[in-house]
Amino acid sequence: MLIESRRSLASIAFSAVALLLSTQVHAQPWPTKQITLVVPFAAGGPSDVIGRLTAEHMGRTLGTQIIVENVGGAGGTLGMDRVAKADPDGYTLLTHHGAFTAAPALYSNLKFDPRTAFEPLGLINTGPMVLLSRKTLETKSATELIAWLKDKGDKATVAFAGVGSNSFICATVLQNLTGAKPAMVPYRGTGPAMNDLVGGQIDVLCDQSTTAVPQVLGGAVKAYAVTSSERSTSLPDVPSNTEAGLPGLQVTIWNALYAPKGTPKDIIDKINAALAKMVADPEMLKRFDASGTVAFPPERRSVAAHTVHMTEQFEFYKSMFEKAGVKQQEAK
Ligand code: MLT
Repeated sequence: MLIESRRSLASIAFSAVALLLSTQVHAQPWPTKQITLVVPFAAGGPSDVIGRLTAEHMGRTLGTQIIVENVGGAGGTLGMDRVAKADPDGYTLLTHHGAFTAAPALYSNLKFDPRTAFEPLGLINTGPMVLLSRKTLETKSATELIAWLKDKGDKATVAFAGVGSNSFICATVLQNLTGAKPAMVPYRGTGPAMNDLVGGQIDVLCDQSTTAVPQVLGGAVKAYAVTSSERSTSLPDVPSNTEAGLPGLQVTIWNALYAPKGTPKDIIDKINAALAKMVADPEMLKRFDASGTVAFPPERRSVAAHTVHMTEQFEFYKSMFEKAGVKQQEAK
């Protein structure tokens, strides 16, 4: 009897150790080398600012270096393609925004499906855009700017960062609202577009508050409205869309993190936890506030909440472009 009970104890112990080993084997140590964070737009734009802030903060939390790689082009879809094809090992990540969820409605030949090729890792922050012009433009209000744009027709130039980008969406909404038909000038990001706006080479740009705020406060460009019904605390003198007579100019930006589909859950959970720590850090919240954005509330910081948001946004952009009659096109 005693031998039998010892044997059964031994077999219980053996299976417990086997179970522990199997889980440990699956959860390999991570990270053990540097991580690449792809920013799907040119350096110097709002996505690049958020990407670099995220890389620095999460790198400290995860105990490894996170380097930013700017992969601009085709409204952010070239950067998406780079990450969709990467190994799902947690060492290639993507920071992106609404253009991620606008892509299926706008591009007919993507080599990946944004709805299935990625793992959502968590939402970062959200805020408005700002309607801007070069400071040498004589217009003093949104009403005067719209009249000028309609009068100039395609002699007026509006910069954007590729089809599907936030700056594209804002410019498209503005044209649908006003009937203005300016020449649209594409860039690989609103970083270089802003440089040309400050230099007076471009007439108008709708950029995210993250990079618009310092230029407006520095007097380098003119601001006419924020794309929200409330004024931005970071730009107290800039009218809301309603005050500017453009209540329909409602564009909300949000930033989030993604990994390739198939990334192990324990790695996804570690990244989500590091992201949650970043968006709860008072220093980071001060940076967000100064740029006119806010972190998502705690109840919306989980991977599940990001998944819900992503599904809603795919639907939102699909119906928005259908209503606006914007057709799919080939990603170049
Ligand atoms: C950028 O960083 O260039 C912007 O996110 C592009 C855009 O969406 O307008």
